[in-house]
Amino acid sequence: MPAKISIIGAGNVGATSAQRIVERGYADVVLVDIVEGLPQGKALDILQSAPVINFKTAITGTNDYKDTAGSGVVIITAGLFRKPGMTRDQLLAANAEIVSGVIGKVVKYSPECIILMVSNPLDAMTYLAVKASRFPRKRVVGMSGVLDSARLSTFIASELKVSPKDISAWVLGAHGLNMVVIPRLTTVRGKPLTELLSKETIDKLVERTIHGGREIVDLLKMGSAFYAPSAGIARMAESIVLDKKETLPCAALLDGEYGIKDSVIGVPVKLGRGGIEEIVEFELSAAEKQLLYDSAEGIKELIKQLGV
Ligand SMILES: NC(=O)c1ccc[n+]([C@@H]2O[C@H](COP(=O)([O-])OP(=O)(O)OC[C@H]3O[C@@H](n4cnc5c(N)ncnc54)[C@H](O)[C@@H]3O)[C@@H](O)[C@H]2O)c1
Repeated sequence: MPAKISIIGAGNVGATSAQRIVERGYADVVLVDIVEGLPQGKALDILQSAPVINFKTAITGTNDYKDTAGSGVVIITAGLFRKPGMTRDQLLAANAEIVSGVIGKVVKYSPECIILMVSNPLDAMTYLAVKASRFPRKRVVGMSGVLDSARLSTFIASELKVSPKDISAWVLGAHGLNMVVIPRLTTVRGKPLTELLSKETIDKLVERTIHGGREIVDLLKMGSAFYAPSAGIARMAESIVLDKKETLPCAALLDGEYGIKDSVIGVPVKLGRGGIEEIVEFELSAAEKQLLYDSAEGIKELIKQLGV
């Protein structure tokens, strides 16, 4: 029997994630939104692509959380996105209110689920989800590093004219300006990036990665990225539902790993049926560890404003 995944927020990110998941065929999807008709209309539209795409999984839309009951994974994309000129952090107050309300209803109907947080500012919202759900930390994970690493891989692939599949990139730290990119850990066909490109070129690609979301916001003007984010969400959901145990860069609440406590930050995470099955500790130099630590301190400042 396919697993059941609920997606809260049927906007650009939520609906595109729903499409990717049902098309892959590993889970039925329930799409939820506060706007009446929106999740129902999008779900029906996606369902009507089944005869053409040939998937058998079910998708329904609803405004009632009862329909989410017994979900194995709940993906939270409800909330505001940033407009040109805004940072993700400026969404904190508005999205904290939305996410707090959503979490209460999610937990009521799916007390055993794994929460996959997407709403921004991602690290603070993931922290809020751990606290508001009272779930063990292994059952709350945030999507950021898969997207940021995919952006870096895309830029490296076009610079070196290689397949993005030949690149293993690790973007850690906060999902924002304090992102931690360690070029030494990024390899192309097994070779560290630092042996393939000059420092100047690497710095340029890293800078573009850090501002990758803003570049798209500035182009779209009335929306933020959703195709690449939904690809990251679907990959994480698949690793959980199919117990693939992939190690991916994800936002997780740390309790001493990397010398960091009580902050959510992007780190390598083994994702399986149990959610966060392991926080993998890469060997970092003292300077690299410091970068991660400073990034976590920045998130702690945001977390303080949540008052949880
Ligand atoms: N983590 C990441 O890497 C990443 C990437 C892209 C977007 N995001 C974030 O994801 C969120 C969604 O982005 P989007 O582009 O899909 O925005 P969107 O406006 O297209 O969709 C958001 C949806 O949330 C719904 N919503 C609002 N309040 C709700 C509530 N209380 N209950 C249920 N639904 C509610 C809205 O009606 C809307 O349909 C934003 O916060 C954005 O910043 C995060």
